Amino acid sequence: MYLGIDLGTSSMKCLIIGDDQEIIYNVSSKDISLTNPKSGWSEQDPSLWIEALELCLEKLKEKVKLNEIKSISFSGHMHGATCIDKNHKVIRPCILWNDTRSHEECKDIMNDKTVMDIAGNIAMPGFTAPKVLWLKNNEFDNFKLIHKVLLPKDYLRFYLTGEFFSDLSDASGTYWLDIEKRNWSSKLLEASFMNISQMPNICEGTEQTGVIKKDIAEKYGLNINCKVFGGAGDNAAAAVGLGLYEEGDASISLGTSGVIFGSTKRFLKNYDDAIHSFCHCLPNTWHLMSVMLSCTSNINWFVNTFNSSIKEITDQLKNSMFSKNLINNSPYYLPYLTGERTPINDPHVRASFHNMGIETDRSLLVYSLIEGISFGLNDNYQALSKTGIKLDNLFVIGGGSKNEYWIKLLASILDRDLSITEASDAMAAYGAARLAFLGFNNLDHSEVLKPPTVKKIIEKDSTLNPLLKVRFNDWKNYYIN
Ligand code: XUL
Repeated sequence: MYLGIDLGTSSMKCLIIGDDQEIIYNVSSKDISLTNPKSGWSEQDPSLWIEALELCLEKLKEKVKLNEIKSISFSGHMHGATCIDKNHKVIRPCILWNDTRSHEECKDIMNDKTVMDIAGNIAMPGFTAPKVLWLKNNEFDNFKLIHKVLLPKDYLRFYLTGEFFSDLSDASGTYWLDIEKRNWSSKLLEASFMNISQMPNICEGTEQTGVIKKDIAEKYGLNINCKVFGGAGDNAAAAVGLGLYEEGDASISLGTSGVIFGSTKRFLKNYDDAIHSFCHCLPNTWHLMSVMLSCTSNINWFVNTFNSSIKEITDQLKNSMFSKNLINNSPYYLPYLTGERTPINDPHVRASFHNMGIETDRSLLVYSLIEGISFGLNDNYQALSKTGIKLDNLFVIGGGSKNEYWIKLLASILDRDLSITEASDAMAAYGAARLAFLGFNNLDHSEVLKPPTVKKIIEKDSTLNPLLKVRFNDWKNYYIN
């Protein structure tokens, strides 16, 4: 058995597969809370990740013998700065991927334009390096204590093995990695006053990074020989879960963030439109992706704020989306609750409804909420398409992929058909388990990963498409920088 641990922003998923890569058992933790001490700030206490892991292992123990797990690997939310001191204690809460406080530090890092050639990206506040530079500028006492900076899932690895490692896909989101050379860059490290001794070792996603520590094995009933492999950032892990590493197959993930991911055979630089150019977690592969910071989190916000429900949202969407009249009477929604990365790279922008009239009721707000998120995804899609990347098959994954009406609306806005696969919403955990499997059995990914099977194609609606094109152009005008 092989265990994949996926540290998500709002909960953890743990998934066990067998020797045929079949899913044996799959559990989730309870919600992991995050705090927003100020607008644009987003932090999480790493001890909650350990609690989530303990809960998942307890649940797994009821169904499987944990000492039969041969290997473990990880997926995790990317970019978070988990700073630990020389006694290996966490210095302060982890500053997360959707925290935008470090926008000024991004400008400082990019003062020397050549850094972008190495990092393959513009520096964005989501990335780790500007967060650490923010600590230097604002919490110098904490900055001075930094012994290592770990990405969130790599802190779990350290807890389980005592080893400091990060895989290349996750390390790509730090802004300390030379993306083409697949190694730490001293020039990038210097730009935020860091040095290589403060970095974990670099590995491929399928490389071994140690074994479970004796005390940890005893505590949880894990095998003392259980091996631990590199793993991946959540988007690359989900791609491995789906089987995406060849050019042409791509995914669109409707989760807390909205990500369009396409693999590439070589490193492609692209600074425009805040496109991310990262290493994949498989040897000699790279990928491009667009990242919309708030995707389904807009829906959660609406549900919590207006005492709504997913059922209400699905029902109202179904009612409105086939009526030209209702669509045209709907307001416009900009889905920028926590600022935005692709394509506008604006940490200051916030969400807003526009063009509401006396006739605007709750049902029209619901429609424009989903339409606005989909317009944001279309903006991402257009930006990514400009790079020339092949996006032949686009598989919809993530929590939002369960709502076929939403996918229909999205297909009509994107002006293309979208595919659904057998995939569950635990794709990243499955990908992590696959990395543990690939590494343990020393297999080449091309032998193991097959392109996803198409379960259903959701076609665009040709009546909706022209109507939505016009509304998308209007929607674009409401964002003013
Ligand atoms: C990717 C990104 C998010 C997080 C959280 O750049 O910031 O996808 O990994 O899921």
